[in-house]
This record gives sequence, C-alpha cells and structure tokens, in this order.
Amino acid sequence: MSLWPGFLVQPPTKGSTLKTLKKLTGLRRLFAVGAVVLAAVSLQPLSAQAAPQPVVGGTRAAQGEFPFMVRLSMGCGGALYAKNIVLTAAHCVSGSGNNTSITATAGVVDLQSSSATKVKSTKVLQAPGYNGKGKDWALIKLAAPINQPTLNIATSTAYNNGNFTVAGWGAAREGGAQQRYLLKATVPFVDDATCQDAYGSDLVPGDEICAGFEQGGVDTCQGDSGGPMFRKDNAGAYVQIGIVSWGEGCARAGYPGVYSEVSTFAAAIAQAASTL
Ligand code: ARG
Repeated sequence: MSLWPGFLVQPPTKGSTLKTLKKLTGLRRLFAVGAVVLAAVSLQPLSAQAAPQPVVGGTRAAQGEFPFMVRLSMGCGGALYAKNIVLTAAHCVSGSGNNTSITATAGVVDLQSSSATKVKSTKVLQAPGYNGKGKDWALIKLAAPINQPTLNIATSTAYNNGNFTVAGWGAAREGGAQQRYLLKATVPFVDDATCQDAYGSDLVPGDEICAGFEQGGVDTCQGDSGGPMFRKDNAGAYVQIGIVSWGEGCARAGYPGVYSEVSTFAAAIAQAASTL
C-alpha cells in the first residue's frame, strides 16, 4: 500500500503518530492504526492519494525539467555527458568493452511515454581500477546521439557544498518498487567527517561525497544508482557534483546517501570519453 511509506518517511508526522500509538496496546492499538490510515486516506483529496511517492521524500519532476536524465535498462540512472555518452555508476555495469545490451531511455519523465527516445549502447567503459570501493563511475557509448541537453560535470571542488538536486526512477522507499515517473528531491551536503561517523572506513573520502538530512526522510534509493546529483553554478547552469552510489538502506536517520565525487574524476572521465 503506497500510503504507508510516505506517511512513515515524513519526519513531522512520524514521531508524534508513533508516540501516540506506542501508548496504546492490543486491540485499542489496532483500532488506532486503522483509524489513522482511514483518516489519512479520507482526508486527502483524490489527486493527493494518487500522487506517486518520491525518490524517497521527493516529488515528480516536470517534463523537460532535467532533460539530461537517462534511464538505463539494467535498472540504473545516468546523465548525458555528451549527446552519445552517458555517465553512470561503475557498479551498474559488468566491465569494459563492446556492449550492445543496454538501452538508454531519454527525453521523458514517463518511462512508458510513446515519445521516449530509446537508443542502444555500443560500448561500456568502467572506471579503470574499479574494485567495488570508490571509483564508482562508468561511461556508456550510444549507437546514436540523443538530441537533449548534456549535463556539465564539476571540474573543481568549488561547488561541492550547499544543496543538491537528485532525480531518478528508483525506489520511493527502502525495499520499494521502481517508479514509472521521474522523481526529484533536494538534499544538503554532508562533510566527510560527519559521513565517516556513519560509515567509518567504508567511506572513501577522496572518491565520495555525501548528502542527506540528519533526520533522514529524503534520499536516493535502489535503482537511482548511476544518476546525477547536481546543483547550479554561479552562472545558473546545472553542474553534476555526484553519481548515486550507495548508502545504508534509504533515507535512514544518521545515514546520508553516498555519491561518487565527480570533481575527483573529471579529468579521468574526460580522458576516457575521448577514447570512446
Ligand atoms: N546502490 C543503489 C543502486 O544501485 C543506490 C543506493 C543509494 N542509496 C542511498 N541510500 N542513497 O541503485
């Protein structure tokens, strides 16, 4: 039931509702839970009930809002680095070489739209030296260019701060289903020291940048991997800061999302792209 997650991941309602429920026991508690669900269902207008659940804690992106977004057929996200090259995560691909098995879908927020552009891959280039720890980036060469704007990647650490936008068709809650419509959310930068409090030596601080709220509730999730985390630069243009990589569950309090730090790899990505 899609109502539960949204209702559970929103921090403001969570504490108070759960506290009230904890005070009640047995049958009375069962009735209370039923009443809360019914109230939540009946008090919402139909349009709100039908609204999709987020990236976790996000909302639907408008058609054309993030035209560089790509959905990859293995169940990952990506961004157009060039018209015929998608930047995604290394853990979304199985290695480097000729590969015609991946389909990239672009130009739509609705994956089932008949106006979607679908293009096959020709080659995959996984980050050299990728071994599951850091270096989580890969390039996919497409059989034909996609006529959509590309997303610039950060070439310095100048914008590795502030609030970031994340978007994807991945799960709207931990363990949830993949989404038909592109969802978006805003998450704040989390410094390496704070992120290490959560992840210890699993974090590779030079390769990874974290984002999320202390109290959780908003995050990327399974199926968002490979997609971009981005913000605006001083000229008002979007610049890619991160690549969705991993996290402990999704949107959990105290566990930020972990993203590949694009600025660290900008030169390697450009060099790799020039060989495709
Ligand atoms: N590894 C996941 C994927 O393959 C992405 C998980 C992101 N998790 C997070 N809590 N931000 O889709």
